[in-house]
Amino acid sequence: MIKAIKGTKDILPGEVEKWQYVESAARDVFQLCGYNEIRTPIIEETSLFIRSIGDATDIVQKEMYSFSDKGERQISLRPEGTAPVLRAYLENGFDRRSGFSKFYYIGPMFRSEKPQAGRSRQFHQAGVEAIGSYSPYLDAEIILLFASILDKLGINGYLVKLNSVGCSKDRANYNHFLKNGIENRLNDLCEDCRSRFLRNPLRILDCKKESCKEIVSNLTSMPDLLCDECSKHFEKVKENLKILGNSLQVDGHLVRGLDYYTRTVFEVVHPLLGAQDAIGAGGRLDNLMAELGGAETGVVGFAMGIDRVIKIKESTVEQFPYKRSSGIFLVTIGEEAYKKGIEILWMLRRRGISSDIDYEERSLKAQMRAADKYGSRFSAILGEDELRQNVITLKDMQSGEQSQISMDSLAEKVAPKLSL
Ligand code: HAM
Repeated sequence: MIKAIKGTKDILPGEVEKWQYVESAARDVFQLCGYNEIRTPIIEETSLFIRSIGDATDIVQKEMYSFSDKGERQISLRPEGTAPVLRAYLENGFDRRSGFSKFYYIGPMFRSEKPQAGRSRQFHQAGVEAIGSYSPYLDAEIILLFASILDKLGINGYLVKLNSVGCSKDRANYNHFLKNGIENRLNDLCEDCRSRFLRNPLRILDCKKESCKEIVSNLTSMPDLLCDECSKHFEKVKENLKILGNSLQVDGHLVRGLDYYTRTVFEVVHPLLGAQDAIGAGGRLDNLMAELGGAETGVVGFAMGIDRVIKIKESTVEQFPYKRSSGIFLVTIGEEAYKKGIEILWMLRRRGISSDIDYEERSLKAQMRAADKYGSRFSAILGEDELRQNVITLKDMQSGEQSQISMDSLAEKVAPKLSL
């Protein structure tokens, strides 16, 4: 039997409602804050990701699904959404037409990582990119926006870890400083970090191995070595995030697994997620547009992992997805009633009332069971007697109350109770 590929999964009815719930909360907040949806292709030229994410990163080195197509073009499934959005911004002339633009996206991303709890090969992100401003208020805005989505979803107990990795010069200085500080402990570093030491020492700060953590733990943190301008920017970002109170923690050793960041970087973590504790992450990427062939442009964004948000909700509320009661299930007895039932069904649907019917001409009992399974708020029974009198028997499935009403008044009668 053919099965879904390792690290991917089907999202089935009963489960998919969780996704709709989270996606719609994110969409509401994005739109509230003036972000417009963008949908970019799932496949892109591999070079887009090499140039943006960085060729020394784990994503580019080990985790991309890449292949050459029939025209010998190097193609990759998108491992993230930022580079495609910037590519689309440039390719569609937004830089000339509108300048400052705020985009959001929701969709699947692909990384060939070792599947484990909280880490899959196809996962889903909801993210934003605000393009065309260097303002520190915007760095704060996207972090507050992220927090608003979590608040809307009723998720508490998250922590926003914040840092600044400065400009390219600051990073070069800090890399130099790190190299000097670590040089005499090189042999105590893990194998990966020994290679990071040569290629990108900053990434040593991100190593999860205790021995490496201990080596860097006492080193001066990045914000202490920033240039004046980057330092001022960081102060403004922090000032505007005071509203987060204890949910904000400055972590001077926070670095990211993607090379494109400048200045602000952040990660939102939650203790219920275990080892893979990041619900989402982001920051500023002021060099990326030029890297992709555009003019130097201020960009700031984040991506939230939808799979992980769902995991938190599942472990904090008893009933998730919240049961949505559907409108009316029509129960008909006999052929004439069935024909009338179909007419009523489409009348209800045209009025925006969710409704369904049994297709198999089953017994009254079986149809009532189907009404229950459908999760309907009402059932409406239509038999020979009802047809003759032009009425319908309406049963409130919550209270069990039953009454006969005229067919014409059905929609008016139920709509208020379905909060339409
Ligand atoms: P990222 O940190 O690579 O950043 O991913 C963001 C979030 O996606 C993670 O915090 C996590 O919740 C989720 N995620 C990543 N990989 C997996 C996986 N294998 N399985 C499940 N969830 C995963 C980015 O992707 C940047 N593009 C964020 C950004 C946008 N920066 C600026 N703009």
